[in-house]
Amino acid sequence: MTCRVMLRSVFRCLRINPVAGHRSMSQSSLAGKVAIVTASTDGIGLAAAQALGKRGAHVVVSSRRQANVDKAVALLQSQSIQVTGTTCNVGKGEDREKLVKMTLDQCGGIDILVSNAAVNPFFGSIMDSTEEVWDKILDVNVKSAFLMTKLVVPHMEKRGGGNVVFVSSVGGYQPMQGLGPYCVSKTALLGLTRALAPDLAQSNIRVNCVAPGVIKTRFSSALWQNEDLVDELKKQLSIKRIGEPEEIGGVIAFLCTEEASYITGETITVTGGIGCRL
Ligand SMILES: NC(=O)c1ccc[n+]([C@@H]2O[C@H](COP(=O)([O-])OP(=O)(O)OC[C@H]3O[C@@H](n4cnc5c(N)ncnc54)[C@H](OP(=O)(O)O)[C@@H]3O)[C@@H](O)[C@H]2O)c1
Repeated sequence: MTCRVMLRSVFRCLRINPVAGHRSMSQSSLAGKVAIVTASTDGIGLAAAQALGKRGAHVVVSSRRQANVDKAVALLQSQSIQVTGTTCNVGKGEDREKLVKMTLDQCGGIDILVSNAAVNPFFGSIMDSTEEVWDKILDVNVKSAFLMTKLVVPHMEKRGGGNVVFVSSVGGYQPMQGLGPYCVSKTALLGLTRALAPDLAQSNIRVNCVAPGVIKTRFSSALWQNEDLVDELKKQLSIKRIGEPEEIGGVIAFLCTEEASYITGETITVTGGIGCRL
């Protein structure tokens, strides 16, 4: 079919059923929405910001380093995405408050929170992990996800509703060797999603979670740069390759659209086919 013939049949279909065309466009659109994405100057967070921005949202990107924020803002602007940026270490209360205040001052409200930040300061037998390691991992990966949610909910309520998406991991279902405390923190996010969903549904706020498999980012480079590990991993994968950040960003954005209007308290695993169950 030539391009012109294809276009003609699309227009004919829309003429016959204009409501269908309108519905599918508006339900996937995030025009007029304001989205905070934490840890969004690289990897999955940046891809989520791109996916939300391409659907029309104004995205607020942040991370610890100003140089990274500047680079991400410039990249998103070059893609015609409406974007504001600031530094924010999610582990610090004053930074979280600054991020929310700046968003309200500059964008007028908050509709979406993607809580994406995580750290892993420890690799080894879980029995060798210290109290400091646990404090750091739980503070950044779990507590700050909840505290960010608590900060934004009153502002979502003022807009009549909203969406929260947490970023967990395949390791939240089956802990990976050497990454025990990190994986436990990712399991906690599955629980946090379920704990928040019924309470926030009363305010028309949906709470969901995405659990990525191994995705090609700086964070996981020790995994995908090791050929032996990749060969081993491929045995568990149905899709025999490492995932790309965009393949997570799109799912996060979908969860924030009206197309997902009946999904809450859910975790979507995006793993290339690795079986996930608790
Ligand atoms: N990649 C994977 O295979 C994989 C798999 C499952 C789950 N995940 C999860 O996906 C999320 C993102 O990981 P990624 O792979 O996309 O990482 P990444 O590519 O290394 O990017 C990490 C981002 O986080 C920022 N950051 C780090 N610590 C921060 C903090 N305390 N506060 C605010 N920003 C911070 C970094 O910028 P600055 O350095 O400027 O702060 C950067 O923008 C994490 O929750 C991770 O657990 C990743």
